[in-house]
Amino acid sequence: MQEVHLTVTDVLGKTRDLVFPTGMGLSLMEALKGAGYPIEAVCGGMALCATCRVDWEEGAVSDPTEAELDMLDTLPDFSPCSRLGCQIRLESLADGKATIRLNPSKT
Ligand code: FES
Repeated sequence: MQEVHLTVTDVLGKTRDLVFPTGMGLSLMEALKGAGYPIEAVCGGMALCATCRVDWEEGAVSDPTEAELDMLDTLPDFSPCSRLGCQIRLESLADGKATIRLNPSKT
């Protein structure tokens, strides 16, 4: 798999289809920031701030780590589909595609 395909819905409800290369070790948070989305990522990808939070709508991905679950558990609107974009490597998208919604708590 040399690329991943993401369908991304932003906080205004606008959906874009994006393609990102794999093999560079990029996190989902880094890829989305690079695509121009205003993701704060205050902690720089340390799973300490949740400003990179997304809701996972479709697509196989690695399970969250304990550190990620601990951070997500502090969110008032945590749901089972909540993930931290900084903790997901693009290479971990098993099917090479996913559908996500950006930080729904800001809508
Ligand atoms: S950037 Fe802070 S938790 Fe992801």
